[in-house]
Amino acid sequence: MVQIVPSILAADFARLGDEIARVERAGVTMLHLDVMDGHFVPNFTIGPPVVESIRKITRCRLDVHLMIDDPDRYAPVFIQAGANQVLVHQEACIHLHRTLRMIQDEGAKAGVVINPATPVAMLDDILDVADYVLIMSVNPGFGGQTFITHSLEKVRQLDRKRQERRLPLPIEIDGGITLDNVADAVRAGCDWIVTGSSIFHTPDPALAVMEMRQAAQDAASVKV
Ligand code: DX5
Ligand code: ZN
Repeated sequence: MVQIVPSILAADFARLGDEIARVERAGVTMLHLDVMDGHFVPNFTIGPPVVESIRKITRCRLDVHLMIDDPDRYAPVFIQAGANQVLVHQEACIHLHRTLRMIQDEGAKAGVVINPATPVAMLDDILDVADYVLIMSVNPGFGGQTFITHSLEKVRQLDRKRQERRLPLPIEIDGGITLDNVADAVRAGCDWIVTGSSIFHTPDPALAVMEMRQAAQDAASVKV
């Protein structure tokens, strides 16, 4: 079942509770929270206190995307703050296997992310450990960027690998998703569609979620 996962990076942070309530009314059950440290990516966003506050006002699963230099040090802090799922970048983890196991031991699902310049093959030896994989379809750091089309080929490669190896891991995509390309992402094999600007930079975020979901479901039904 394809899921639309709103990224709150594009929401109005002064009215975050209302923004979240709006997408929840459209049936959203997972939210994507982007954490940036000004080192791994050239931008800053939210930290544990904000995650903790969001945890109190929603029943959605919290999918926390760590774009930081030291995920080993901070992943447990974000899990403590309420993250259900934590994504770490392959590029930021020297001992990726250990990091994923640590996240799982701390009680969260462990996802691994690769940047646009990182080949899918870098994940070959970790696919049976990770709970899910995120393919970045923009260079991380900012919302509102243009979708990198080659990401679809990477999703297809990963989809083939998970089928060959009979791995149940969901594939997530993040960056530049719009109503025009969401169907391509689903047909390539994506299960979880992260989207920020296309939801929160519209007059009616709930309607935007519903339209996006409809486009995704139509694409999924054609695929089968
Ligand atoms: C980018 C973030 C994304 C971002 C996507 O570094 O990881 O989650 O919010 O935003 P849009 O959908 O606007 O590209
Ligand atoms: Zn993200």
